[in-house]
Amino acid sequence: MRRLWRPLLVGAVIVVAVFAFARARVFEPSVAKSAGPGDPYAGQLVFESTCASCHGIGGKGGTPGPRLIGSRLTASQVSAQIDQGSGVMPARLVSGTDEANVVAYVVSIGSK
Ligand code: HEC
Repeated sequence: MRRLWRPLLVGAVIVVAVFAFARARVFEPSVAKSAGPGDPYAGQLVFESTCASCHGIGGKGGTPGPRLIGSRLTASQVSAQIDQGSGVMPARLVSGTDEANVVAYVVSIGSK
């Protein structure tokens, strides 16, 4: 009689684990939603395709781009940098919605 409960117990453990993983959102981008016009989730995708080659994945710093995590830059500083460029960073790599989104992302990692 006891053995009949084992498969049920295993099943219950699996169900609980699946729900726990779903709630933990392990596979979602690690960015806090922030106020402002840009969407940092979309901005992360722009960043990884356009900026990470210099600034490193997630803005951790690279060659030749400085680390952007913890930079404390404001949205206007980040958009000014994108619009004007400086050093080897070209101006206007992104614009419009992509710029607003990547600015939101850089500001969010800047406050980490
Ligand atoms: C070709 C390499 C390169 C690419 C691509 C690049 N950057 Fe840069 N970025 C740099 C360098 C180098 C600096 C430092 C510039 C200086 O010293 O004047 C910099 C500086 C910055 C700064 C200012 C950092 C600070 O502490 O003041 C920000 C913000 C920034 N980049 C954001 C971005 C974003 C967003 C993108 C993608 C749209 C991007 N960068 C793409 C090379 C790059």
